[in-house]
Amino acid sequence: MLIHVNQEDRQFHLTNGKVSYIFHVMKNGQLGHLYYGKALRQREDFSHLQAYDVPTGATTHVYGDDPAFGLETLRQEYPAYGNSDFREPAISVSKTTANHVPNFTYESYQLHDGKPNLDGLPATYTKENHEASTLQIILKDEFLQAELILNYTIFRDKPVITRSASLINKGSEELVIERLMGASLDLPDKDFVFTHLAGAWSRERHVKERRLETGIQSIFSLRGASSHHHNPFLALKRPEATEHAGEVYGFNFIYSSNFLMQVEVDHYDTARLTVGIHPFGFKWNLKQQASFQTPEVVMVYSNQGLNGMSQAFHALYREHLMQEQWKQAVRPILINNWEATYFDFNEEKLVNIAKSASELGIELFVLDDGWFGKRNDDTSSLGDWHVDLAKLPNGLESLAEKIAATGMKFGLWFEPEMISPNSELFSEHPDWAVGIPGQPYTLGRNQLVLDFSRQEIVDYLYEKMAGIIRKTNLAYIKWDMNRNMTEAFSPKLAVHQQGEFFHRYILGVYDLYDRLTREFPHVLFESCAGGGGRFDPGMLYYAPQAWTSDDTDAIERLKIQYGTSFAYPLYSMGSHVSAVPNHQTLRSTPLQTRANAAYFGTFGYELDPVKLTEEERADIKEQVAFYKEHRALIRDGHFYRLMSPFANNETAWMVVSQDQSEALIGWYKVLATPNPKKQQTLRLSGLDETKAYKVAGSERMYFGDELMNVGLTLPTEFNGVNGGSAERGGDFQSQVYYLKQLEK
Ligand code: DGJ
Repeated sequence: MLIHVNQEDRQFHLTNGKVSYIFHVMKNGQLGHLYYGKALRQREDFSHLQAYDVPTGATTHVYGDDPAFGLETLRQEYPAYGNSDFREPAISVSKTTANHVPNFTYESYQLHDGKPNLDGLPATYTKENHEASTLQIILKDEFLQAELILNYTIFRDKPVITRSASLINKGSEELVIERLMGASLDLPDKDFVFTHLAGAWSRERHVKERRLETGIQSIFSLRGASSHHHNPFLALKRPEATEHAGEVYGFNFIYSSNFLMQVEVDHYDTARLTVGIHPFGFKWNLKQQASFQTPEVVMVYSNQGLNGMSQAFHALYREHLMQEQWKQAVRPILINNWEATYFDFNEEKLVNIAKSASELGIELFVLDDGWFGKRNDDTSSLGDWHVDLAKLPNGLESLAEKIAATGMKFGLWFEPEMISPNSELFSEHPDWAVGIPGQPYTLGRNQLVLDFSRQEIVDYLYEKMAGIIRKTNLAYIKWDMNRNMTEAFSPKLAVHQQGEFFHRYILGVYDLYDRLTREFPHVLFESCAGGGGRFDPGMLYYAPQAWTSDDTDAIERLKIQYGTSFAYPLYSMGSHVSAVPNHQTLRSTPLQTRANAAYFGTFGYELDPVKLTEEERADIKEQVAFYKEHRALIRDGHFYRLMSPFANNETAWMVVSQDQSEALIGWYKVLATPNPKKQQTLRLSGLDETKAYKVAGSERMYFGDELMNVGLTLPTEFNGVNGGSAERGGDFQSQVYYLKQLEK
């Protein structure tokens, strides 16, 4: 049993032996939070975990007329504002005709095997009922005539609980929702490090940390996309926790638009976490009998440090978020022509790239931006989804056939959500762009955003894309999104409905993804937003891989991929080898280091293979063969971060197969060290202490305990005087090791 209900005292305990989450109905009928953390054994009564203590002093505010009860200091489950709690609430909803402080009190509960779907929203799912249990708590506000349902799912074999809420208008008057968060959680103290992923274009998801302090600390997006700048991920880590040990709470929001993740530390050091759609600018008119469902919040508890948290997210997303057909599928090694040609290509150039790449063992050719309309640069044609016959006079079908003849699969780039002012589509439908007609528009990358809150626009894009998929037998789509939203109004929504725009927009995006992925389940989608500007679990639900960053520099990628791995599995991170000098940094790194970084993701190339030397071609052939040999391990294995690029000149990480019989280790050193110490070792993780492992390419054998406590011996580095004996040297060195258990 995963959910214990004490009906008499109205207490609920979700536990799977790894975590416990406990709450109850307080004496005013609202929900109070009791505990979240390491599993506790079940007992009938947990109510002593909450003291109804009203602090003494001049500013005490009691609830109703009960002198022994005030909300100001109580830990609650889904708080409102306007009563005796002065912190930021989870819910704010009102009638347009009368004033009222929300007061949702307990009505009933329901238990479900497995996990119900969230209507129109991406969310974790179960395939078999035994994989999880769901508790729904039904609360009512009599005055508003509204029902609030809080959903809690606990997964059987993972330290994971997911939460969401929905509000149903049961009355005869329209309601206005100003805030409805996915989850609120009151932790008893503030002794945490607020750990999150921040960045910008080309340097996404760098790890940032700061101690929680009194007041509000938050991360958010108001850009209409989850953004390059803040990822909807947050970890609250005990200060003493490390990568491998200690307590960490991880949170991820399954949503791709405006979000808020906030911790408010009050005057008694209670830390209130609030996660949900950003309330700024949000206002939803809830018609009679209508309901509003929030996106889902994933909560992971780890007592095995940050690695334990990440592994729980990875396993959850692999098994319960990515679509079924991609869980076990082998993802093709791809070549993308963007950095090879940019907009300057013709059929011959593309076919030559495909032929040359196919000889190297690469499996999928992706034609990026510039194949449609009259798009010779980024100033035109978005929306005109028909082939540019000036570049490809024989059409897309002919190109697709020629690519197929090379033995490669064919993939195509789209940016469905955009419209160029200089396009046929804009001349026909100027009112399809997001904005305020008659007022100035802000351009981003010379383009405007299509109003995906409108069904007819989503339908139009569906027809265009589905037509091309059918005609060209596409195997892959890269779905890009290159600007954030400004003047975010829909010309078709009434003024009082504009607060619904951002959410309606992303529902339109999800709808298009949903229809395309259902109708064409064999097409692999890779999401992208100017690189990693929408790398979030909402997108991963539809597109099992995402272009991690436009920055393909191997050294920059160490930080980007390291940070991304906090929440997202390796097999979701598009990672490619590109030409040097690198187009984003102008840095030149060895070809092997570029591959060694890119192996730890969904591998590919972003260069012109026709321009490679024979030696480089031979190396790439080996790299491709190497990745093919190990991609199942990268897909299914447990990932361990060993050395952080944010703290060291060296970075290291590894993947260990679930049965611990093999492992792949990546080690990278940014700058060379003069006069380094003679013998350097790298301590590994996750191996079986008792197993004997052999390092591929050498005769060396180690036991697991030795590798984890002493370490793997690294090659000796160049050392001025005795340089002759060095096995490596220079900047940007790296090494990938493959360990295999010795047969008994
Ligand atoms: C941004 C993407 O991240 C790039 O990979 C490329 O597809 C360009 N857009 C094309 O415009």
